[in-house]
Amino acid sequence: MSELKMQSNSQNIYDNPEFFSAYSTLSRSQQGLAAAPEWPSLRHMILGSSSTTLPQSRVLDLGCGYGWFVRWARENGASYIQGIDISEKMIEKAKSFDKDAKPASTPEVSYEIRDLETLILDEESYDFVYSSLTFHYIEDLARLLRQIHSSLKKGNNGSGNGKLVFSVEHPIYSSPVRPAADWIDVKGAGEEEEEGKVWPLNSYSEEGLRVTSWLGTDGVRKYHRTTETYVSLLLENGFVLTGLKDWAPSEEDVAAHPEWSVERHRPFFLLLAAEAR
Ligand SMILES: C[S@@+](CC[C@H](N)C(=O)[O-])C[C@H]1O[C@@H](n2cnc3c(N)ncnc32)[C@H](O)[C@@H]1O
Repeated sequence: MSELKMQSNSQNIYDNPEFFSAYSTLSRSQQGLAAAPEWPSLRHMILGSSSTTLPQSRVLDLGCGYGWFVRWARENGASYIQGIDISEKMIEKAKSFDKDAKPASTPEVSYEIRDLETLILDEESYDFVYSSLTFHYIEDLARLLRQIHSSLKKGNNGSGNGKLVFSVEHPIYSSPVRPAADWIDVKGAGEEEEEGKVWPLNSYSEEGLRVTSWLGTDGVRKYHRTTETYVSLLLENGFVLTGLKDWAPSEEDVAAHPEWSVERHRPFFLLLAAEAR
């Protein structure tokens, strides 16, 4: 694995102390996958309904953050897991969870600070690539998908084709050009408070940079692309699509978290699964 010697426009917002501190207060930062409501859908895309582990696989997590998925993969059969992130603070935090791990009885885990915009991956070196809520920070996703495709094994050793599973902010969520777009109240639209809320969807077809406000920080840079573009980028770069989910909380999720009921008006995350051919 190496890095292209070229400049990129990547923003490393997670190393901003105020942003990092606000991010650490999120329940998914504190409790990990258990507090990520889309995790059961991602887990199903990773394992399918029959398998319960990732047997003896080499796994790569792009934008690994605190390393919650890296630790899950370690406990679920992976033989080697590589976590990559641009943020020194995130990697430091991920490593801090492993201080008490027993290296002799666990698969090899390695963390590296790298920019996904310039990352070069070794050919046919992974069985499974995962990325959670990171690809919407990447400007040149086609380049990264080509790298991922080349790094996945192609089934010539009888172990099957390598797989990619990733999540992004849903294009309907990432589309509005207003920084920190929020629900708008439409009076008289319904009896219940949530029925009167609409999402300010605009500029869906205008792909590219969105400069937003998040966790009290202005100027957070993300890239909006349509669902069609995500799927086309996979197909054009050698993948076969094996799963797609417009994730919004289920009725059961809302029963457990009534404050999420408004989130059923539009999908929040887009989850995609693909196989390298
Ligand atoms: C929303 S966090 C998700 C963290 C983790 N995957 C999770 O789901 O808990 C996004 C992560 O992507 C990383 N990231 C953003 N841009 C990146 C880039 N250009 N290269 C590598 N990592 C990047 C951030 O530092 C951050 O850790």
